[in-house]
Amino acid sequence: MPDVDKSKTGGEEQKDFSVGVPQANQGFFLKGSAHLPWGIKNRLSRIFNPKTGRTLMLAFDHGYMMGPTSGLERMDLSIPPLLEYVDCLMCSRGGLRTCISPEVNKPVVMRCSTGATVLKELSNEIIGVTAEDAVAINASALTTQVCIGAPYEKETLANLAYCINEGNRLGLPTLGVTAVGKEMVRDARYLGLACRVIAELGAHFVKTYYCDKGFDTVVAGTPVPVVIAGGKKLPEPDALKMAYNAIQQGAAGVDMGRNIFCADHPAAMAQAVRAIVHENATAKKAYDMYLALQNKKKK
Ligand code: R5P
Repeated sequence: MPDVDKSKTGGEEQKDFSVGVPQANQGFFLKGSAHLPWGIKNRLSRIFNPKTGRTLMLAFDHGYMMGPTSGLERMDLSIPPLLEYVDCLMCSRGGLRTCISPEVNKPVVMRCSTGATVLKELSNEIIGVTAEDAVAINASALTTQVCIGAPYEKETLANLAYCINEGNRLGLPTLGVTAVGKEMVRDARYLGLACRVIAELGAHFVKTYYCDKGFDTVVAGTPVPVVIAGGKKLPEPDALKMAYNAIQQGAAGVDMGRNIFCADHPAAMAQAVRAIVHENATAKKAYDMYLALQNKKKK
């Protein structure tokens, strides 16, 4: 039986209910996310920094369809030195288990789709990692890609719907990725269509590519947070400019791979991108920072 809660003087209970102080109705910091369940919000709050509303995700899931691509030949060597600078990891189940220590306490966005490689039709994917597998590995979100306009468009949408349905059941948010086939034009019209479809299916956040014209309309037309992929390796100043432009036009962060781990100085690049994402650094300031950090390393 619990102790009786009485003050020793007079035997009356001393409790403070702050009667008259209304309980605040708490909002939520992410776009389109106010009505989500607590568990999904909690996981999103690990991926996105509640102070800035943004995230720097490190994508290194490329091997699931590209094999040992440049920069990821030895994930055990190239990825761990970058972890302290990023907010979140996007990777495959095998990449995580073999190359990242379980002591690393960063949220993981788990690549769930599989079934295609660069040697074949990339849109012909299935789900290979179940939501339960993702929970077992302590993932904070599920992810799969959709290939709008590709031969297996419908199947990739079904994969996304699976992640969203199962994730909702288990409290895991889903990141929908817009994969753009070689034959597609990466313009605001196409990316806006893909992002909108993904959000309307119920994805909790969307990854897409940056486009020079009209990226702000892609963001505005997508009712959940949008993060950009880096795409092919660019010279460092150009990659930083792209990240800066995307953030200025409303992106809630970047999920960058090759432009970080293939940079001449990956750790310096991760810190420079971080300054853009979380400190509103200009592209020039971030590049100056990159140069300073790389020079410091040389000394
Ligand atoms: C492709 O395999 C994945 O979806 C990547 O996570 C994505 O393309 C982001 O990586 P990157 O910045 O290298 O394009």
